[in-house]
Amino acid sequence: MLKEINGRKLIILIESSEISKKVHDLGQQITEDYKDKNLVIIGILKGSFIFLADLVRSIEIRTEIDFIRVSSYGKGINPGDIELITELQTPIKNRDVLLVEDLLDTGATLEFIKKYILSKQPASLKICALMNKKKTRETAIDVDYVGFEIDDKFVIGYGTDFAEEGRNLPDIYVIE
Ligand code: IMP
Ligand code: MG
Repeated sequence: MLKEINGRKLIILIESSEISKKVHDLGQQITEDYKDKNLVIIGILKGSFIFLADLVRSIEIRTEIDFIRVSSYGKGINPGDIELITELQTPIKNRDVLLVEDLLDTGATLEFIKKYILSKQPASLKICALMNKKKTRETAIDVDYVGFEIDDKFVIGYGTDFAEEGRNLPDIYVIE
């Protein structure tokens, strides 16, 4: 497996076995919280694709799954410039919605998507993020389910990327 990217070393942060355990626990908790409900799970592309794929297999209730895609700043765009690339196709009015994101950095992406989802008047909206960077944020954003609280460093693997590389890594690494 890849151990460096563009000459920068990858330092292991969270091993895949630890990720699996945590993702399974999150799935069980979501199952418990939404029992007897029909949940719409919306993944934010691309970063959440692996997390979501594992998470939904630990959720034992009726679900419908969809994705939305927003632009990222991975290619040098400002963090503030968030744009919806694909519209949500699933009707969510009066339905219970769970947004699934890979990680929260400034929180700007989720803030933007949350507003978009709420404009469609769901019955409820909760957020599940695999990682949350410990930092002071301009806008406090409530995340209902968090896998790992991590330091404010750049990470890759398990769906997250560095300039589109490293999404296929089974573990999560910090870039030196
Ligand atoms: P935010 O809008 O600043 O919260 O950034 C959220 C998005 O930026 C995440 O969904 C990631 O796609 C990307 N991002 C932020 N920090 C990292 C990182 O450390 N590694 C990889 N992607 C990141
Ligand atoms: Mg993302």
